Amino acid sequence: MTMICLGMEGTAHTFGVGIVDTEGNILANVSRTYDPGMGGIHPREAAQAHAKNARAVVVGALEEAGISLGDVDLVAFSQGPGLGPCLRTVATAARALSAWLGVPILGVNHCVAHVEIGRLSEGAEDPVTLYVSGGNTQVIAFDAGRYRIFGETLDIPVGNCLDVFAREVGLPHPGGPKVEQLARDGKQYIELPYSVKGMDLSFSGLVTEAVRKYREGVKLEDLCYSLQETAFAALVEVTERAVAHTEKKEVMLTGGVAANRRLREMLGLMAEEHGAEFFVPPMSLCADNGAMIAWTGLLAYRHGVRQKLEETVVRQRWRTDEVEIPWRRSSPCR
Ligand code: ATP
Ligand code: FE2
Repeated sequence: MTMICLGMEGTAHTFGVGIVDTEGNILANVSRTYDPGMGGIHPREAAQAHAKNARAVVVGALEEAGISLGDVDLVAFSQGPGLGPCLRTVATAARALSAWLGVPILGVNHCVAHVEIGRLSEGAEDPVTLYVSGGNTQVIAFDAGRYRIFGETLDIPVGNCLDVFAREVGLPHPGGPKVEQLARDGKQYIELPYSVKGMDLSFSGLVTEAVRKYREGVKLEDLCYSLQETAFAALVEVTERAVAHTEKKEVMLTGGVAANRRLREMLGLMAEEHGAEFFVPPMSLCADNGAMIAWTGLLAYRHGVRQKLEETVVRQRWRTDEVEIPWRRSSPCR
């Protein structure tokens, strides 16, 4: 029997609602993003924006899907990891909706959801995934029943590194696209700290040094270019080592930073050298979105995962590798 799941995403500054069925059809994927202006993200303000936007986004998604609330069989929501106030707002909305409709509720891990929606949309079976955004930087691959983190940032995420640099040099938020644009006019590589520590990454020293060089009068275009080359080379190095270690034949790039052409090019080349297929989902599914939550909720529900209301409490630091993945227990298939 086909089931329809309404999934709510709201771990950070995007509130999204996706409607997906058990066949993997994405019936709707609607979102609104809170714009923090020049100051960076304020968790409580973002949460208030989610509360304000929730009704319109839910209604918009139902209209896009051409269904009514009564057709929803399951409510899924982003339970973590993320910003506390944002998570709590979305969890409250999801609990209210599930109680009102009398349908089950299921909390979903945000990072797992990024991987699962990519596998669905791109038809990837068993990729090594580089998930890069403003709030996360992880190299993820499936092994023995779970998504393992093969490498991650020890300090700030790479998207945040680009955003902080942009803010410090007077560029508007989000910084990633601006840095990418300016980097195209960069001519000279400026030495910046490259830091891969074992399988992990660090970007805070990189941004500090880039800002310092800007204040010393180094040309902004050259710095943007060098910042990208240095940060992305480190990301590709760690992903490459995960590919070599796991011998997987697929590489996937996702998260908001996946919009970057240069990163796509570098990671794609690495994949090619390893004879691996390279996937990048459409940006509507790379950035935070409700469809990924809905689809992952359905996968879990169909494989027997259930939650009591008291188990829906938010998990701000919920790690990718803490989640059981019963839908992939034995083989690399859906
Ligand atoms: P998450 O909750 O997954 O951490 P997020 O709140 O950071 O997500 P996303 O939309 O996934 O939201 O990612 C936003 C990030 O992507 C920002 O840091 C932004 O600068 C970065 N970004 C967007 N476009 C580009 C680009 N073209 N090049 C580099 N970075 C980009
Ligand atoms: Fe995300």
